Amino acid sequence: MPAALPHHIAIVMDGNGRWARKRFLPRLAGHAQGVEALRRCVRACAARGVQVLTVFAFSSENWSRPADEVSGLMGLLAKALAREVPDLSRDGVRVHFVGDRAALSDSVRRGLEQAEQLTVGNSRLVLNICFNYGGRWDIVQAAARLAERGQAITEASLHAAMGLAHVPDPDLVIRTGGEMRISNFLLWQAAYSEFVFSERLWPDFDEAALDEAIASYGARERRFGRTSEQVCAQQPEALQA
Ligand code: FPP
Repeated sequence: MPAALPHHIAIVMDGNGRWARKRFLPRLAGHAQGVEALRRCVRACAARGVQVLTVFAFSSENWSRPADEVSGLMGLLAKALAREVPDLSRDGVRVHFVGDRAALSDSVRRGLEQAEQLTVGNSRLVLNICFNYGGRWDIVQAAARLAERGQAITEASLHAAMGLAHVPDPDLVIRTGGEMRISNFLLWQAAYSEFVFSERLWPDFDEAALDEAIASYGARERRFGRTSEQVCAQQPEALQA
């Protein structure tokens, strides 16, 4: 029986700065290489039948980085969108941005909107790019929207008001770069995700590393709070295999 394939993979793409430092390059060169790794990863996920890929590209806290790195990341995003979105669209990728757009410049915001509009009809792979995103921000903005509408706060209503309401929760969260923390990523949605921490720096994350993470996921037993016996009783075909 083939190992389970995650429907939704989410990635903290960490290690661009260290990748650059090891080569005596500016940090931005690491981020540029990170864009290449992202492009490879999107295609590899689509080829394997993964339906949703969510990546952490710029966190609410990244504004506190040096000004030239922040403006460099904004410029990199604009360039990457102009260069990649037509190809992504041809490959059936639908792009969504998740995060607080209010703090972004008009031109960056327009770039995000255009990418979303251009790919709106696609359904092979949903690519969620978390940009100016934080898990706490997402929970607070969802609660504030419900309060504004006078709606009761329940798990279902909060979920529906959050940035990833259009996709199921991530099955697998990968973090590259050797750190083992969540760093304010998908705090709500990752409640029952499986985690893989890779020592690879993000620019070095290749298809083999992706396959390793997927294989690790395939070997896990997801219990969602139940016992192992209950899980097996619900999946008799898994016992026969
Ligand atoms: C973390 O590495 C990475 C980021 C803060 C940015 C991630 C962005 C990309 C992979 C490029 C794609 C993004 C855009 C804008 C399209 P780090 O800088 O914290 O690395 P370090 O821990 O080695 O210093």
